[in-house]
Amino acid sequence: MAAGNDRSGQDTLTRSAATGLICPRCERRFELSEPDAFCPECNRSLDVTYDYELAAKRIRELPAEQRPQSIWRFSELLPILDAQACARVGTHSGFTPLIHAQRLGAELGLQRLYLKDDSTMRPSFSYKDRVVSMSIARLLELGKDEIGCVSTGNVGHSVAALAAAAGIPAYIFYPNRLEPTKAKLCRALGAGVCQLDANYDEANRACRALAEESGLEFANITLRPYYSEGGKTEGFEIVEQLGWRSPDHIVLPAAGGTLSSRVHKGLRELELVGLAQTAHTRLHIAQPEGCSPIASAIIAGASEITPVQPTTAAHSLAIGAPGDAPLVLSAVADRRGSAATVSDAEIFAAIDLLGATEGVLTEPAGGTAIASLIKLIDAGAIAPEDTVVTVVTGNGMKTIEDHPVKPWPSAVPARPETMRSELEQLRATAGARLAA
Ligand SMILES: Cc1ncc(COP(=O)(O)O)c(C=O)c1O
Ligand SMILES: [Zn+2]
Repeated sequence: MAAGNDRSGQDTLTRSAATGLICPRCERRFELSEPDAFCPECNRSLDVTYDYELAAKRIRELPAEQRPQSIWRFSELLPILDAQACARVGTHSGFTPLIHAQRLGAELGLQRLYLKDDSTMRPSFSYKDRVVSMSIARLLELGKDEIGCVSTGNVGHSVAALAAAAGIPAYIFYPNRLEPTKAKLCRALGAGVCQLDANYDEANRACRALAEESGLEFANITLRPYYSEGGKTEGFEIVEQLGWRSPDHIVLPAAGGTLSSRVHKGLRELELVGLAQTAHTRLHIAQPEGCSPIASAIIAGASEITPVQPTTAAHSLAIGAPGDAPLVLSAVADRRGSAATVSDAEIFAAIDLLGATEGVLTEPAGGTAIASLIKLIDAGAIAPEDTVVTVVTGNGMKTIEDHPVKPWPSAVPARPETMRSELEQLRATAGARLAA
């Protein structure tokens, strides 16, 4: 990186107030130039630290209307120092819509239900563009020119798209039992795809060893401290889009635990720099029954998770040994939150409910969040007058082939008399659904 840590005003510098890295367990500190992503003592992924006074000052100096409507909006609180690296990646990512879901809210008995709709995210239609943008910007900052990743599906798609746009080759390592469309998408975006005969956790371990041996940077392994920071932008946007009022509840699907732990960190930072009061916001974790190490630990009141072998159709959430689990457990405890687990049938029913009430098509990760929201309301953890944000983290077009098949109507002759009776049936079905 040409400009190093010097913040003397060259235009190659962003406004970042990042100061270094810290191990969240033993609190040992490291320089931002540290090549390792993990603490050598504890093997935990390092976390980025900031000078919050400096961040607050810089935030006050630049009015919101002069800031980009993208993940880089509050770059004071992001870990990339080289503005040219930021300008090459993720400039169209973030600032997804926050939708007041009145029809779904009415179905569920909530007046103020909002959907943070990352299914519309550019360029790869999932929340992962927030985190992968940070990794690729960091890679460019380091002057490197190829990237790998291990993925449950969406990270790969995001790496393929963002790397192509930045002009660097990408190599995607996929575990087994992945939705095939996601691998196809990566190939169409010019990435190299390697399918591994392993589950995600095994694939992750093997990729870490390969990274050490080959020197290839991995977006979500060797660049992990930077990757994770992108998750905070979800929290920043939710609070800003609600007029700088943090909601009573945020419901998030979790796999590795990056998004949920970093939404918590982002909300805390908004307090630290004086942008919003966020301490009241409760954080709820949504996981499928077939892979719920974090949610089950929260429900049981356990102090650590027990890894599991995933068996769920929500492939993007199938991480049995989530790396950020300790951070999620403490985030949920700090925020007096809770968790829910839901069956695959409940997940697909929730996808359909969201689609039919709001016109938003999500994948099983988003279905997991909506199905969990329903359970949290039933359990009394969320009250009708509360302001609730549920994050729809991914797009259902990528997983539609996995959606349980509904009976497909046989073709009818294209004549008004046959079509008229068809139409009557379709109207009756739609009416029954709306009346239900
Ligand atoms: C669509 C979607 N939502 C949520 C998640 C969970 O994110 P995290 O691993 O940050 O907990 C993933 C992870 O792959 C995902 O693809
Ligand atoms: Zn440590």
